[in-house]
This record gives sequence, C-alpha cells and structure tokens, in this order.
Amino acid sequence: MDEKKRILSGIQPSGALTLGNYVGALRNWVELQKSDEYDCYFMLADMHTITVRQLAKDFRKNAIDLLALFLACGLDPEKSPIFFQSHVPAHAQLGWVLTCNTYMGEISRMSQLKDKSQKHEGNIYAGLFTYPSLMAADILLYQADLVPVGADQNQHLELTRDLANRFNNAYSETFKVPEGYIPKIGARVMSLQDPTQKMSKSDPNENSYILMLDSPDAVVRKIKRAVTDSGSEVKRGEGKEGVENLMSIYCAVSGKTMEETEAEFLGKGYGDFKTAVAEAVVETLKPIQARYNELMANKDYLEQVYRNGAEVASRTAMKTLSKVYRKVGFIQP
Ligand code: TYM
Repeated sequence: MDEKKRILSGIQPSGALTLGNYVGALRNWVELQKSDEYDCYFMLADMHTITVRQLAKDFRKNAIDLLALFLACGLDPEKSPIFFQSHVPAHAQLGWVLTCNTYMGEISRMSQLKDKSQKHEGNIYAGLFTYPSLMAADILLYQADLVPVGADQNQHLELTRDLANRFNNAYSETFKVPEGYIPKIGARVMSLQDPTQKMSKSDPNENSYILMLDSPDAVVRKIKRAVTDSGSEVKRGEGKEGVENLMSIYCAVSGKTMEETEAEFLGKGYGDFKTAVAEAVVETLKPIQARYNELMANKDYLEQVYRNGAEVASRTAMKTLSKVYRKVGFIQP
C-alpha cells in the first residue's frame, strides 16, 4: 500500500508561460517533488485550453513548449508522470459525472468565469462555464491530498472540495478531499503595468508580463518600465502595490524575505532596486532557457516523457473512475 501523500497540479498550454505561473506554481512543484514526501502528477491541462478557441498550429507549439519548460524548470519525469490531460480519457469521463453533480448556481459564481466571459464577449462557449467541474475531476481522479497552485485557483479548489464531499455523502466515501498549497510569497504576481490586475499571458500589453522565454534585454526593459509610485522607498504599504509586486518577484527568485529586501534597499532609489530585480530574474531564467533549448532539440525524448506519463497517470485515474462508474450505477461493460 502506497503511504505517500499525493499531489496533482496542472498548467494550461494557452500561451507562453509567465513568471507568474513559475513563481505561483511551477517553482513550488519542483520543490515539493524534491522533498520525496509526495507522489506527484503533473499535467498539461490542454482540454481546459480549448474552452477558448485555439489555432491548432499555435496550440501544438505551446503544448510542446510548456512540456519542455516543465522539464527545464526542474521537474523530473523519472519521479513523477508528466502528461497531457487529453491523453488520459478518464478526465473527460469523470468531468462529465461531476458536471452532473454541480449546481448551476455554484458554478455561476466562479469569478474566473466572469473575467474570461468579459474578455471573450460574444464568443463564450459552454466549456468555459463547466470548466471548474473538469478541473475538479483532474484533482479527484488522483485522490490528491495537495494541490499546489496560485491564489487565483482558490475558488476552483473550494468547488472541488464541495464536489468531493457531495459525492462522498451521496454515494459513500470515494474521493480524498484535497487541500490547496498556496505559496506565502508570489501566490499572486501582478501585472507590471497595473498592479491591481494579475500578471496574465492573455494580457494584450506585453509590457505587463515577463515570459519564461523572454530575452535578458526584454526582462530588463519590462522591469525598468514597471509602474511604481511617486515615492522613492522600497517598502510595502498603502499605494505602493507596484513596488510590493516587484519586491515579491525579487524575493521569489532570490529566496530573500520581504524584510531582508526592505533592509537591502534602504536609502536606495527605485532605479537601483529595479536593476537588482531585473538581474535576479535574468539569472533565474538563464539556466532554464538553456535547458529548454537543449530539450527542444530532442523531440523524441519529449515524446517519450509524455507517453510514459500518460500510461502511468491513466492507471491511477482508471482506479478512481471505475469506482465512480460503479457507484453511480452504470452497468459494467
Ligand atoms: P493556469 O494555466 O491559468 O495557471 C497555472 C498556474 O499558475 C498560477 N498563476 C499564477 N500564480 C501567481 N501569480 C500569477 N499572476 C499567476 N497566474 C497564474 C495559477 O494559479 C496556476 O496554479 N485551471 C488551471 C489549470 C488546471 C489545474 C487543474 C490546476 C487545470 N486542472 C488541476 C490544478 C489542478 C489554470 O487555468 O491555471
């Protein structure tokens, strides 16, 4: 019997990976995987991505890019399956069962639905609406104990817990009720241009985000242009959201605390601070980008990683799915 706790998390290949995705999620996956306390499953959530229409060619490129970045950031496929959601049919299958156990009312309250509906006005597919039930299926299929994500996924996790409890109460104990793992620093990296908005790859202003594959020049330029305030002190506080955001990026990539950062830049201006943030980000990205380039030159290896990943993930997922199918009363095939 497997005593280790389980982890499942995913990222959508819906565009280039941002520093927000790395700081809020991926970097923590690497740490949790290293700790050897958990059995981890890492997923490229491609079925979620088609809730918004994709150009097939770009979609394929983004998917392979993201896989290479997972590995380049330090995920080890020898330790944990890394797989595409669309390669494990149990996600769609359990997703449907959970959709049939989700209330219209609770799913209508999801704030990401509101945000995304505004962005894609006139072009809103039903998948965007039912997406959180599919996300619950992703997690519950693996009986995950812990789900490392950024703060924007909190509401989806709450729904996942509600669905797990609802199903367990209606059909007897079936699903583990998962907990979120949301980092203390970097759970919500904000836009560099508007610190009231989260940093997002779908932002039309490219100065608002840093991509994991941005060149050093681009990183320096974007950080230099980041919105701060009319003051000059590097510290947290009311009206200093822009500086605080840069501070949390700095802490996340350098391992320093907010207090250490305030002390380090005491008496120095925003110019010096921004230079240091940019340098720290560039130094973090450098080895990741080098490894990414190596991996992209070895497509056979990448294929092997996602094939093996799907095989292992499918085995775990099928165990849960067959239980669920039996409990809801489907005739066994
Ligand atoms: P996605 O692809 O939008 O984001 C992937 C991860 O990155 C985190 N994140 C951020 N963290 C900090 N600051 C930001 N600005 C920022 N932007 C994004 C997200 O919180 C997330 O952890 N629905 C999910 C993907 C998913 C999933 C799952 C996650 C599908 N099934 C099951 C966990 C478990 C999503 O769209 O994330």
